[in-house]
Amino acid sequence: MKIAIVSGSVYGGAEEVARHAEHLLRDAGLQAQHLPRATLAQVQAFAPEALLFVTSTTGMGELPDNLVPLYSEIRDQFPAWQTLPAAIIALGDASYGDTFCGGGEMLRELFAELGMREAMPMLRLDASETVTPETDAEPWLADFVRLLNTAPAD
Ligand SMILES: Cc1cc2nc3c(=O)[nH]c(=O)nc-3n(C[C@H](O)[C@H](O)[C@H](O)COP(=O)(O)O)c2cc1C
Repeated sequence: MKIAIVSGSVYGGAEEVARHAEHLLRDAGLQAQHLPRATLAQVQAFAPEALLFVTSTTGMGELPDNLVPLYSEIRDQFPAWQTLPAAIIALGDASYGDTFCGGGEMLRELFAELGMREAMPMLRLDASETVTPETDAEPWLADFVRLLNTAPAD
């Protein structure tokens, strides 16, 4: 199964989590491909059968600048991703209060607009609690792998 991993990051933390996820999914026998700063056309060309979004939050609950172009293209072009298992890993900092993991929340809203379903509850990684988001994501990623391995083929 081909899984596209897209990421949005300011300081590199989310990108690091995305790279780690790519390794773990590949180790599990899945064809994972991290596509940092990809255009929608590049994601589509990969022909993903599942999607993983990894994003941090900046500003007041906003997406990192390097994910905004893809986010806008997805909103404008409505790719037919309704049948694909898709999930989100959000990095944030709970000390920002109401905007905690706001970037991930924006992606959840995008999923809803597109009629996509979240295959797993969004993982929230809190920078005020941990400095090892990659390893903290491992149990969630193991569940994601299990889910993909049991997903019925279309
Ligand atoms: C200027 C700035 C604004 C931030 N705003 C938020 C925010 O609104 N909500 C949140 O949950 N985290 C916020 N954060 C925390 C980051 O999302 C968090 O530290 C994350 O781990 C950074 O990941 P990155 O290295 O991929 O950029 C902010 C961090 C900075 C430096």
